[in-house]
This record gives sequence, C-alpha cells and structure tokens, in this order.
Amino acid sequence: MSLPAIRKEALVFRSMRLEDIDTIVEIEKEAFTAPWTAEAFNNELKQNLFAKYMVMEQDGAILGYGGMWLIVDEAHVTNIAIRERYQGQGLGKLLLGEMMKTAHWLGAKRMTLEVRVTNEIAQRLYRRFGFEPSGIRPGYYSDNMEDALIMWADLDPEVWNKQDNPEPRSRRTPGEKAERGTAGSSARALEGEQA
Ligand SMILES: CC(C)(COP(=O)(O)OP(=O)(O)OC[C@H]1O[C@@H](n2cnc3c(N)ncnc32)[C@H](O)[C@@H]1OP(=O)(O)O)[C@@H](O)C(=O)NCCC(=O)NCCS
Repeated sequence: MSLPAIRKEALVFRSMRLEDIDTIVEIEKEAFTAPWTAEAFNNELKQNLFAKYMVMEQDGAILGYGGMWLIVDEAHVTNIAIRERYQGQGLGKLLLGEMMKTAHWLGAKRMTLEVRVTNEIAQRLYRRFGFEPSGIRPGYYSDNMEDALIMWADLDPEVWNKQDNPEPRSRRTPGEKAERGTAGSSARALEGEQA
C-alpha cells in the first residue's frame, strides 16, 4: 500500500484530545517496548495540570505526538514518537522543534528528558537541538534495567529556527523497534514506580 506523502505545509500541531488516545496507544505500541496504556494518557489529559501533550497531524491523520510536564521554568519531556512508517523523514525534528517552541512560549527556560543509553537515533535528534548529557540514572528502565541518559537543553529560538529544512533519510529497518527513551519520572509515576 502506498503511503500518503508528507506535505510539510499541510502539517498541523494541536493539543492532544481524549478522542486521540486510541491512535496514540497504537503509535506507542509501534514505537516502544514498554508502551503507555490508554489509562495513563487519560490520567495525564484529565488530571495532570502540569502536562501538555500535542499531536502532529496531516489531513486529520495523527503522525506523531509528544508530551511534557511544565513546572515553573523547566519542561520535562515525557514522550515523543512518530508513526513507524513515517520515521526518518524529518518529522521528529519538526515535532521536537514545536514542543520546544511551545515550552518557551509557556515560560520554560530549559528542557530535560531521559533517554535509553542505547537509543542512538533519539540521542542524535536531541543533540541536534542542543541537548547535552548531564548524568546517568543507573537501571532506570524496569523492563531491562537499562540506564537512562539525562539530557538538558536551553530553550533558545535560534536552535529550532536552524532546523527548518528537514531532509528525508532512509527509514529504520522494518521490525527494528526503538525502546522507550523519554519515559521520565512522570512515566515511572504512571507505572507506579518510585523515582
Ligand atoms: C526518535 C524519533 C522521535 C525521531 O523522529 P524521526 O522522524 O524518525 O527523526 P527525523 O527524521 O526527524 O530525524 C531527526 C534526527 O534523528 C536522527 N535520526 C533519525 N533517523 C535516523 C536513522 N535512521 N539513523 C540515525 N539517525 C537518525 C538524526 O540525527 C536526524 O537528524 P538528521 O537527519 O538531520 O541527521 C522517532 O524515530 C521515533 O518515534 N522513534 C521511536 C520512539 C522513540 O525512540 N522516541 C524517543 C524516545 S527518547
């Protein structure tokens, strides 16, 4: 089946809604080995006043989404994912840029996240946007006790303005699944774990 081509000018970013959750959970399952449940997203949208979740869509179809917690002047990314069949085409850059812009507009000065030490694709994306490693949380991911790399970036408009021309790149090999990377303290809380 041929896939609709990405048209950058047709992409829309908007807040995530409760009716999006079924699709979001499908993308979670494609993207992560330990996907969040519908209940977790439901709680985030209904109860977490610090949470800001956005989706990226084209012609009404959700292609990716990201979430963060905004606490005073810091934004903590909880998750970011692109539909598997659309990965490697520059959408992650557009989405992360939009999340950074939004956090900046809402008053955040810095952004942080955790990423699995083996998730090199995500780390490259983050480095492109000025994220730098600041430490390790040993055994942070309970599914395989993998370490998390903690990264921080200053929210500087110059950084995302530079990323305006995404080039397509070859897609990830079919079946190669990324492991959840930005599941930060919020994810642990959602899973009932202590940070
Ligand atoms: C990580 C993710 C959000 C990136 O989105 P994407 O649309 O695939 O990435 P983009 O095409 O925008 O590429 C952004 C950068 O990521 C890196 N990247 C993307 N695909 C890559 C690949 N196949 N090989 C190496 N680096 C890659 C590059 O640094 C790239 O920038 P460049 O092309 O200018 O070098 C997406 O792949 C995804 O959803 N993965 C599964 C879930 C996940 O791992 N989320 C992050 C958890 S921490």
